[in-house]
Amino acid sequence: MSQEWTRREFLQRSAISAAMLSFGAWTARANEQDRVKIGVIGTGQQGQNLLRQLMSLPSAEVIAVCDVYAPSRLKAAEIVGDKARVHTDYRALLDQKEIEAVVIATPLVYHAPHAIAALRAGKHVFSEKAVAYSIDQAKQMARAAREAKRLLQIGHQRHYNPIYIHARNLVQQGAVGRVTHVRALWHRNGSWRRPAEPADERLINWRLYKEYSHGLMTELGSHQMDMVNWFLGELPSAVTGFGGIDYWKDGREVFDNVNVLFEYPSGVKVQYSSITTNSYDGYGEWFMGDEGTMMLTDENKGMLFREPKAEKLTWQDEAKKEKVGGRDAVVLDGTATQKRDLGPGEQLQYGENRNAYYLELEDFCRCVRTGTTPRCTVETALPALTTVLMANEAMQKRTRIVFKPDMFKV
Ligand SMILES: NC(=O)c1ccc[n+]([C@@H]2O[C@H](COP(=O)([O-])OP(=O)(O)OC[C@H]3O[C@@H](n4cnc5c(N)ncnc54)[C@H](O)[C@@H]3O)[C@@H](O)[C@H]2O)c1
Repeated sequence: MSQEWTRREFLQRSAISAAMLSFGAWTARANEQDRVKIGVIGTGQQGQNLLRQLMSLPSAEVIAVCDVYAPSRLKAAEIVGDKARVHTDYRALLDQKEIEAVVIATPLVYHAPHAIAALRAGKHVFSEKAVAYSIDQAKQMARAAREAKRLLQIGHQRHYNPIYIHARNLVQQGAVGRVTHVRALWHRNGSWRRPAEPADERLINWRLYKEYSHGLMTELGSHQMDMVNWFLGELPSAVTGFGGIDYWKDGREVFDNVNVLFEYPSGVKVQYSSITTNSYDGYGEWFMGDEGTMMLTDENKGMLFREPKAEKLTWQDEAKKEKVGGRDAVVLDGTATQKRDLGPGEQLQYGENRNAYYLELEDFCRCVRTGTTPRCTVETALPALTTVLMANEAMQKRTRIVFKPDMFKV
């Protein structure tokens, strides 16, 4: 496959760069009056992360927080200071007329009810991934947003991660040749259990119970399968797999290990695994083609390994390299690979204070003000949900499930 730019690639590249650069320019212009007045529902681990991003975002002003659990409320109040009202009932937060937009970081089962109530109260909504507990609920969320004429963004932050955007561009330009296989994995060594008083067990460890979550596939796999579908530009046609509660026999109801194989219409096969008893492989996504492998790890590093028989890329000599396991890796960074992708003078906006969470919330505020569409809507996120829910069903029923096209469409 040719490594030279085509006009189409160049235009795609320019559009992405322009979009990324414009986030920054818009934020710089935001003044006090432009700030989007925000309420945050669910201020546990992720809610606190999002609150910190919002506090450093010039285009946002957090004026209310809400959580049913006192320690989470206390943490939120510490982060936002005394300017925000603190609620225990999300409906009281939604009654606050001056709130324009709501950020939702509650357990999966509440995403749809909380988001739909917020939309009906006239608020714009940013809701965490996975989009919803069920395909039907995700479709209801999309309908509620359409009816309310409000924005509904979903928190799959990798869509805003410059490393992923960069890697996808390179894969689509043929940097690994024709992709035939993908491996995506999230391997940890730990129970995934948080310490909790018996009375709070389900509130704290909601991920382990079917009433609230679908376990590893929705909580971890949805992020990664979202990216796999996005990189491949197609959706799976069938899935089979094996999962079990085989190690952590502690009353949990969701699998402690999942091993799944997806088939795609083009013939690509995708292996997904998430385990809780060994961390050697860590987490990431590997796109394997007949000319190379694009390996993304830890959500912050991209490496390109060319196959020994593949021709050298025109820009390969200029690129930063690293030895990994005795092999040469081209590191995706701000030097040669970026110049190739983004063009001279443009920068990957990434770093401690400009991470993907910051970028997705910055774009949320921009979209609220400008009426434009964010990168991750229900339309974007529903296919990822369908992909992982059908994988769970295949594992539960120990069978091969064929996807139906209407499962992916809002
Ligand atoms: N995008 C990411 O990278 C990322 C990372 C972690 C978590 N998440 C998502 O964020 C969400 C929250 O995850 P977490 O790790 O913060 O969980 P968590 O348990 O730490 O926090 C959830 C919070 O919601 C509160 N809550 C529960 N029911 C509520 C209700 N009815 N009203 C108000 N508050 C309620 C809980 O008390 C808790 O404080 C999940 O959907 C998760 O998938 C996303």
